[in-house]
Amino acid sequence: MKVTIIGTGYVGLVTGACLAEIGNDVFCLDINPIKIDILNNGGLPIHEPGLQEMIARNTKVGRLQFSTDIQASVAHGEVQFIAVGTPPDAVGSADLRYVIDAARNIGRYATNYKVVVDKSTVPVGTADCVRRVIAEELKTRHVDIEFSVISNPEFLKEGAAVDDFMRPDRIVLGSDEDIPGQRAKATMQRLYAPFNRNHERTLYMDVRSAEFTKYAANAMLATRISFMNELANLADRIGADIEHVRQGIGSDQRIGYHFLYAGCGYGGSCFPKDVQALIRTASHHGLPLRILEAVATVNNLQKEILITKIVDRFCQDLSHHTFALWGLAFKPNTEDMREAPSRRVISELIARGARVKVYDPVSMEEARRVISLDFADSPDAYARIEFCLSQNDALVGADALVIVTEWKAFRSPDFERVKSELKLPLIFDGRNLYDPTLMYKLGIEYHAVGRACNTSRKA
Ligand SMILES: NC(=O)c1ccc[n+]([C@@H]2O[C@H](COP(=O)([O-])OP(=O)(O)OC[C@H]3O[C@@H](n4cnc5c(N)ncnc54)[C@H](O)[C@@H]3O)[C@@H](O)[C@H]2O)c1
Repeated sequence: MKVTIIGTGYVGLVTGACLAEIGNDVFCLDINPIKIDILNNGGLPIHEPGLQEMIARNTKVGRLQFSTDIQASVAHGEVQFIAVGTPPDAVGSADLRYVIDAARNIGRYATNYKVVVDKSTVPVGTADCVRRVIAEELKTRHVDIEFSVISNPEFLKEGAAVDDFMRPDRIVLGSDEDIPGQRAKATMQRLYAPFNRNHERTLYMDVRSAEFTKYAANAMLATRISFMNELANLADRIGADIEHVRQGIGSDQRIGYHFLYAGCGYGGSCFPKDVQALIRTASHHGLPLRILEAVATVNNLQKEILITKIVDRFCQDLSHHTFALWGLAFKPNTEDMREAPSRRVISELIARGARVKVYDPVSMEEARRVISLDFADSPDAYARIEFCLSQNDALVGADALVIVTEWKAFRSPDFERVKSELKLPLIFDGRNLYDPTLMYKLGIEYHAVGRACNTSRKA
């Protein structure tokens, strides 16, 4: 099938590559010429395991192309996926300007039937808005071209995006009961048939429920994280180990083990903005979402948990201290720095006068770009951040190690080396990577999240 993907970011690029991989003829559009140039020169603007090889394979055989040519992109696909960003606006609602622009372009250039698929995460009612915008453009052109708008939210996870797309837990398809809606549904059934060979994964529903499902999923996952973080902080006070508690509750099948890890808060381009956007949607309808408001507040506070522990251990003035910081990306296996907890930890350390030596296995370039923007107004403060070449480099001469992202490379370091490079045998672990008993035996003072029964023992 001929497919167009509008927006070649994390979601669009993975969607385009995976649909080409199963034999479709895919045209990826982006308005950012730099991204398109990188892709046309064999590069990858993001870090995503398995993606580069897949793109190379499919561009080579001509099933995947990248372009900034809007008119050509509209002409190409019967199916037009809208996969542009929906960042928060000034009040926290989803900013739909990129979605509207994409829809307007379809209306402006379409010459035959199109199935328009909202893949971006968009508030309930956006499909109606997309339909209206396309209809307006067609009317301006005095043409009568049939089109359908359906909702197909994406559930992939950065860092495992290719796998998630190729083997989805479910495919949510929201379409209307009218004739155009049913025609679009049939087209999408055909497009997704290869993903349903083993068993049917598609859940069919109305458009509004599909739009809502995506927000509900992210809101639930964010809730589990904030719930565990709050309990972890209590565990610290009452002398329990949240890791034991996690296993104790996760073994209950009604609860399960996923998304119950305590830590220094969630980040990324989805959870924070989607929770806020859902809160805004609800308040727009006169209904406060009190649980989600608490989820966002708890997460915001949790991003400071490491700072609280560091200040408790030293003092508010950290101007005589240097910290090694491992992990900058908001989670492992991506370079994405959007809303990354590391940014808050770095700015709070720097605000207290500290020096920080940072390292991330993949995100150094992106982190340098983003953090330099965070400190654009204070070059002196920025000068106290050193971007290191390796995790061991970061340790040299630092007073303590602070772990913010749970990269595999940090799971089992040479602890003797860690001790010998640091001035103090001291670790603040925002991801609970190590066994507190082992740390004690190694003579390392270990401050984790919600593991106070062990961490109170100082080296
Ligand atoms: N990143 C994720 O893990 C993830 C997962 C599921 C859903 N989503 C949702 O998917 C959507 C896209 O997210 P993302 O992380 O891929 O965003 P992104 O910022 O990485 O990519 C969006 C791309 O769209 C391009 N763009 C903007 N307007 C355009 C237009 N009119 N025409 C063509 N291109 C245009 C931008 O230049 C950018 O490259 C968002 O709604 C997001 O919430 C993201």
